[in-house]
Amino acid sequence: MKSLYFFKFFATILQRADARTFTVTNRCSYTICWQIFTGPSANKSTPDYSTGWEAQPDASVSFTVPNDWTAGRIWGRTDCNFNNDSASGQTCLTAWCIGGLKCNPTTGTGVPPATVAEWTLNGDDSQDYYDVSLVDGFNLPMQITNNVGCSVAGCTADLNSVCPSVLKGPTNSSGDTLGCQSACDANLSGDTTDSPNCCSGSYSTAATCPPSGVEYYSFFKGNCPDAYAYAYDESSGTALWKCDSSLSADYTLTFCP
Ligand SMILES: *[C@@H]1O[C@H](CO)[C@@H](O)[C@H](O)[C@H]1NC(C)=O
Ligand SMILES: *[C@@H]1O[C@H](CO)[C@@H](O)[C@H](O)[C@H]1NC(C)=O
Ligand SMILES: *[C@@H]1O[C@H](CO)[C@@H](O)[C@H](O)[C@H]1NC(C)=O
Ligand SMILES: *[C@@H]1O[C@H](CO)[C@@H](O)[C@H](O)[C@H]1NC(C)=O
Repeated sequence: MKSLYFFKFFATILQRADARTFTVTNRCSYTICWQIFTGPSANKSTPDYSTGWEAQPDASVSFTVPNDWTAGRIWGRTDCNFNNDSASGQTCLTAWCIGGLKCNPTTGTGVPPATVAEWTLNGDDSQDYYDVSLVDGFNLPMQITNNVGCSVAGCTADLNSVCPSVLKGPTNSSGDTLGCQSACDANLSGDTTDSPNCCSGSYSTAATCPPSGVEYYSFFKGNCPDAYAYAYDESSGTALWKCDSSLSADYTLTFCP
């Protein structure tokens, strides 16, 4: 019994040593709200931080993320008002979630358009996988850096100001564009269930959904070459980034870098 106890004790220490430090920083000139969502991978642990919080300009927080964080995402919401926090109602003009300030841990994914930072740590071939995704459109510029010299991922351009008119929205009460939708979410092909823009239906594989068939792919990829610009963008070679898990990288996510 005693040795089992000590084994568990040291296993806990080792696991802690392997946990990663994530830092999230708001360099936008305005207040945004952040959130963390962990995909429904069975029995995976979650970051030891709130699933949603408010960040003033220049606010920065650090927290611990499990070494095997899987399908983890962080994104930012803009123009939030939690006074009307019915827990299910819309609380922000962009990228809001079910749950109000703290996104619901199982149903609180962001409503598009939203720029999303994604991680799977310690995935296949002992690699960390990470990207900045525009698959759900764009609302805020962001960049992922790390402390071990692996690649930088990001979309640092402000796509709202250059967004094609058919993709624009939502707007605020002054009529300024706060988000830029994907061609899929904008329903440009008139059928999101069988669409080359959504890689759905008869276009649901990498072979049947090439980037050339995705409307406005070159707008997103051209402005943000190191982002994940549509559902099968891995073929670009500059969408999904890898970092050897044995390097135990710490990651920093900066909004409006
Ligand atoms: C998750 O944990 C539950 C309860 O411990 C267990 O029954 C189940 O088999 C686990 N699932 C996976 C995929 O490991
Ligand atoms: C609060 O949100 C709900 C759901 O979105 C909406 O129906 C209601 O009008 C809102 N109330 C106020 C005071 O904004
Ligand atoms: C609308 O958005 C623009 C650009 O972000 C901002 O300058 C302006 O103050 C906003 N207007 C309102 C009423 O929030
Ligand atoms: C897409 O557009 C078509 C044609 O206007 C419409 O019938 C359909 O409901 C729309 N789909 C979504 C998800 O909005």
